Amino acid sequence: MDIVVVGAGSLGSLVGGLLAREHDVTLVGREPHVGTVAESGLSVVGTEQFRVHPNAQTTVPVSADLAVVTVKAYDTAAVATDLADCTLDACLSLQNGMGNEAQLAATLDCPVLAGTCSYGANLREPGTVAFTGRGEIVLGDRNGGRSAVADDVGAAFRAAGIETTVATDMPTRLWEKLAVNAGINAVTALARVENGALVDSLADTIAADAARETAAVARKQGIALSDERAVSLVERVVRETAANHSSMLQDVSAGQQTEIDAINGYVVGTATEPVPVNETLTRLVRTWERHREG
Ligand code: PAF
Repeated sequence: MDIVVVGAGSLGSLVGGLLAREHDVTLVGREPHVGTVAESGLSVVGTEQFRVHPNAQTTVPVSADLAVVTVKAYDTAAVATDLADCTLDACLSLQNGMGNEAQLAATLDCPVLAGTCSYGANLREPGTVAFTGRGEIVLGDRNGGRSAVADDVGAAFRAAGIETTVATDMPTRLWEKLAVNAGINAVTALARVENGALVDSLADTIAADAARETAAVARKQGIALSDERAVSLVERVVRETAANHSSMLQDVSAGQQTEIDAINGYVVGTATEPVPVNETLTRLVRTWERHREG
């Protein structure tokens, strides 16, 4: 399969590297990383070690069978515009936050799949990505239900040795992931702690409250997500990723824009009842972002 991976950060580089063992991959990202990959290849180190030689460039190609979008949520609209000029059979969003698939589908003329990924990755230096833990990619039709396109994409991922499940309940899974991100990301970014710092008495924490509020908003949208399940998912992820810095903590540490609008901000924007914890977290992170902009 001819696959373009848009976004050559940690996750995009790892997924692109894994896919390149079996498929023709073009990695689209920023310099100096893509220049180094184009010249010397992409080294994957850690859990598995190998070197691949995908195409690597700063612009999207004119066509591909599949686009895998891994950019930050605030870059989705720009990527959708770029991909509109690329002839595609399908597009898969592997991004944090809600609303990415809808933005892509509004612009692209191909089926858009939703996906979640629990593989651990860390871009070490240009041309090198650390594979920090095997996980799973779950993908499927963004509106739920069976999808032949999702089956084909799932088969292509599995052929490359990626643990992949094709699911028929992606809307529920996206809300579950949103509850996890709403619970963990802003809290760890503001407190500047690793995910594992939330393990103790999790049910009494702001993280759990943010996840419960997210579950309540999900239920109003017709998604069966209980408070207990939302909190237990947060608990599981903080245990499994105890040593990790959340993506939002990494953004804040690097002085970069965060995905707050697509995570806690999305909960606030969708809620019809008060969601004070998500609102406070959103306002705090936005305050930090305004300060960063100077
Ligand atoms: O955004 C992140 O950091 C990750 O999605 C997660 C699951 C919270 C683990 O750090």
